Amino acid sequence: MMTMNYTVNSTKAYHVNQLNSLGWELTVCNALYPENTLLRKLLRNNNSYGRLLYHYLSNLLPMEKIKRVVEIGGGYGYLMKGFLDSNKALEPCMLDISPYLIEKQKETLKDYHISYKVEDFLETDPGFLGGFDLAIMNENLGDFPTLINLSRKMLELPPKSHDPYLRQALYFFERYKLDWPPGEAFNLNSGALEAVEKLCASGVSYIFLGEHSCEATVPESLRPFIQIQSAGSPERISLMGHDEYSIKFSYLQQVARALDYRCIRGPFADFIPFDLTEELRFIMASHGQHKDEDEMICQFIEDLYKYEYLVLIKEIH
Ligand SMILES: C[S@@+](CC[C@H](N)C(=O)[O-])C[C@H]1O[C@@H](n2cnc3c(N)ncnc32)[C@H](O)[C@@H]1O
Repeated sequence: MMTMNYTVNSTKAYHVNQLNSLGWELTVCNALYPENTLLRKLLRNNNSYGRLLYHYLSNLLPMEKIKRVVEIGGGYGYLMKGFLDSNKALEPCMLDISPYLIEKQKETLKDYHISYKVEDFLETDPGFLGGFDLAIMNENLGDFPTLINLSRKMLELPPKSHDPYLRQALYFFERYKLDWPPGEAFNLNSGALEAVEKLCASGVSYIFLGEHSCEATVPESLRPFIQIQSAGSPERISLMGHDEYSIKFSYLQQVARALDYRCIRGPFADFIPFDLTEELRFIMASHGQHKDEDEMICQFIEDLYKYEYLVLIKEIH
């Protein structure tokens, strides 16, 4: 009989020792940062990602009352710059595993008073999170450890394994009543679940999470133009020097709800609205085959649906 084993995808060594550019991973936030990018011209509101997100959150959360913000994995610091340009009263802390990116954040945010912490969020003392009003994790949950090729049998066969990864995975399924994925083998975003559990357990009032989803959908009316495929289970995304995995958002929602958070979920297109003009329809329908810049536009528009967000709001009883 062939015995299968699982593996752990970790990006820690890459982020701590190797990373010296995010250029290879053009996040939606970075793509919208240059003022003259043609991508901004597609938008109803020509603005940076940070400003667009801040504006959107203002309709959902009392942003004028929020002071202390922690951003985990802030990359080049562009999202936070948009937040601070929108509201100078914010008191942010940037926490990042990458010493290189923390230096980049210091350059981007040099005009503001910010505190910095170089640390793996999974090792952060939970007490550190007390007192923050808002926590942000944008396009980084897929970097957290993912267990690959798990099976229900591996987790349930007695005697229960002493392997800490398997114990933790079984804990998530039992504690949060996660549905078992169909099929024999599956991948589990265990690090993302741990990070969200940690944020919610800290009681921070508001949380924003955004990442590449494995459960993304496109509204019916846009399907002739925007075609994306969602596996339903975390999928590998190969990048320079490391792999990351798309995120099963329904599991994150189950964790947040169990820890007393209300969830608002949607695609990035909710806060990055665009008009489907005749020209854009043509570019999307021809899959951007005519010009290099059309290909970039297609990818960007698809990303506005492949990426989902969760806004978590602590329930007050
Ligand atoms: C793909 S970048 C996203 C950057 C930025 N949020 C954006 O949207 O452009 C991932 C970020 O998460 C950070 N990161 C990855 N794993 C982390 C961890 N375990 N703890 C803290 N930061 C982490 C990386 O160093 C990087 O800043």
